[in-house]
Amino acid sequence: MKRINVSVIILLLMGLSSLHAQDRIQEVEDLLEKMTLEEKIGQLNLITPGGGVATGAVVSEDVEAKIKEGNVGGLFGASGPDKIRQAQDLAVKESRLGIPLIIGSDVIHGYKTTFPIPLGLSSSWDLDLIEQTAQVAAKEATADGINWNFSPMVDIARDPRWGRIAEGAGEDAFLGSKIAEAMVKGYQQDDMSAEHTMMATVKHMALYGASEAGRDYNSVDMSKIRMYNEYLPPYKAAVDAGVGSVMTSFNDVFGVPATGNKWLLTDLLREEWGFDGFVTSDYTSVNEMIAHGMGDLKAVSALALKAGLDMDMVGEGFLTTLKESVEDGTLTEEQITTATRRVLEAKHKLGLFEDPYRYSDESRPEKDILSEENRELARKAAARSFVLLKKHENTLPLAKDAKIALIGPLADNKNNMLGTWAPTGDPQLSIPILEGMKNVAPNAEISYAKGSNISDDKDFAEKVNVFGSRIEISEESPEELLEEALETAEDAEVIVAVVGEATEMSGESASRTDITIPDSQKKLIRELTATGKPVVLALMSGRPLDISEEMDLPVSILQIWHPGVEAGNAVADVIFGDYNPSGKLTATWPRNVGQIPIYYGVKNTGRPQATEEFEKFKSNYLDVSNSPLLPFGHGLSYTEFEYSDIKIDSETLIEDGEVIISATITNAGDIAGEEIVQLYTHDKVRSITPPLKELKGFEKIKLESGASKTVEFIITTDDLKFYNADLEYVFEPGEFDFFVGASSAIEKSGSFSIKK
Ligand code: BGC
Repeated sequence: MKRINVSVIILLLMGLSSLHAQDRIQEVEDLLEKMTLEEKIGQLNLITPGGGVATGAVVSEDVEAKIKEGNVGGLFGASGPDKIRQAQDLAVKESRLGIPLIIGSDVIHGYKTTFPIPLGLSSSWDLDLIEQTAQVAAKEATADGINWNFSPMVDIARDPRWGRIAEGAGEDAFLGSKIAEAMVKGYQQDDMSAEHTMMATVKHMALYGASEAGRDYNSVDMSKIRMYNEYLPPYKAAVDAGVGSVMTSFNDVFGVPATGNKWLLTDLLREEWGFDGFVTSDYTSVNEMIAHGMGDLKAVSALALKAGLDMDMVGEGFLTTLKESVEDGTLTEEQITTATRRVLEAKHKLGLFEDPYRYSDESRPEKDILSEENRELARKAAARSFVLLKKHENTLPLAKDAKIALIGPLADNKNNMLGTWAPTGDPQLSIPILEGMKNVAPNAEISYAKGSNISDDKDFAEKVNVFGSRIEISEESPEELLEEALETAEDAEVIVAVVGEATEMSGESASRTDITIPDSQKKLIRELTATGKPVVLALMSGRPLDISEEMDLPVSILQIWHPGVEAGNAVADVIFGDYNPSGKLTATWPRNVGQIPIYYGVKNTGRPQATEEFEKFKSNYLDVSNSPLLPFGHGLSYTEFEYSDIKIDSETLIEDGEVIISATITNAGDIAGEEIVQLYTHDKVRSITPPLKELKGFEKIKLESGASKTVEFIITTDDLKFYNADLEYVFEPGEFDFFVGASSAIEKSGSFSIKK
């Protein structure tokens, strides 16, 4: 009886909520009926506030007038509940139809509580943690009036010259897809209209990470087979996770810029994948189609709209030309209406029609932003993003009462902790490494010296310092800096050198053709090592680096990326052993730039190199082996993990069946630690050339000293599907190898066959 009542209530509620949903869509339709062509086009215009912000006004006079005239659909670059309220007032109270604005922002790795750069976060392989960081980012951003986020960036990147590799999850489609999904979930949760959630944007659609030669904004050309199997899955995963919007990329795809590419934005995204949100351009990417060679502003704007683009970021090509294109018959009003509908539906999903001031609660920033709890998560996330690249003689962890020389241009530095694309973070709130070490080990004797400049090259520094002082060239000469460092090191038992890239040495428009540590610091590292004292390098960067020289030195290397606002505390947690590092690389580190593009999922070729040795007429180089310096999935721990009993429960897999691959992992060291257990497969014979390894599963486990755990991976034929030459998503019968272990550089563990 009780049960029946409950179901009746549930049914009633379901009825009510679907009625409500229908109402809301009807509301959009009713609104569309009332809109003039100009007002419809106005909704497709996304702009930044212009001048004004500094003087207290929310937007410039010009932008204010545009909002009142109904010529603005969304704003980005404005924040603060009071300012957003003022902006909404202009739209809601002073424009004819009172349509609220969507308020966007780049909240890429945290809002004010800055988490590690995404490439670092991905190295945790911890999906729950990544989701939590996105949740906190949404909580903080919405407290500050933002309801639409230009994240996650899911571009697969296999070229560390490309500075934006920092913003994504590395080279692998499987891991990238899981992370894309976790981030969308974190930002949107189950309800975009909830107070603490915001709409996510998956970007940059598509293939931006494959820009030729790693040069930003460069052309991309790739086969559909590669695209579908290796580059598109993370965008699709975000769409499948219900992402609210998609941002186009700057590059071309099959000779047509993504922003005007109908195949990409309509045939693939909407028809094949069923995406029902809205598509925004990237910053002026509509206008940039002129430089791409696609025609004048009117032509490229019409091309973009026809292709399936709904919103024009900043460039105002839509605003200034679409009406004329309708009038002269290049476009129909119906095409404009379709785009407008999608933008209005997004505003509905965010609950803005119900309450335009939903994200303008002035009591929220103080309690929701940079709370102790949020900073705690930033500290935890940073520690988990670090990757122990190399261990030398158990130097790490350090004793909390050690005598330490802390050296390096990044050791006592606030300006470079946040990393690229942290426009909402405040570098001055970050904890430098020196401060963090003092916090965590108050009894340690720590002396500090800068030791070198990040770079001695003034011209280079000027290019890097566009958003503020990142590379500060000392008044002291490089020789004096070095001498001070060596003096400081004299009394120490151990040297910790914090070296690497400044924040803006990676990120947008920050490609490098030389990805070594700058010479000034290389020299410092060599000299410190020559003292004979134990040396730990805490290496900061936004990309895989070529550290071939440093790998050969007697040093331990901890990769700390750009760790975010809690940098120093997190580094100290790991260096002093309060947290045992557990990160693993999500992008391969090359031996030199000549090996790039480099990634683990390569194909065998017809002439594979059998060993590390050069062989004439094999696919290899005269001067360097094919293997990377550090493989995808690599990362050490203060303890040692042993793999045993790797097996499969059946050597035959049938359609709709499964096989279970298992391995026992033992913590053979003295302290507790976490291991990321990885499973790869290799399809031995198939209709298109297979990669030598494909990641198919991973599990992060924690083991006390001496403890063991058996990890199981269930594999079905669905997990072994790929896009064949006809782009059908299939599995093919035949033999597969599998590999279980601690990185992608592992030997075969066994085989099985798919039988139909
Ligand atoms: C970047 C995007 C970003 C946009 C808005 C562009 O330059 O490519 O990733 O979301 O600016 O700030």
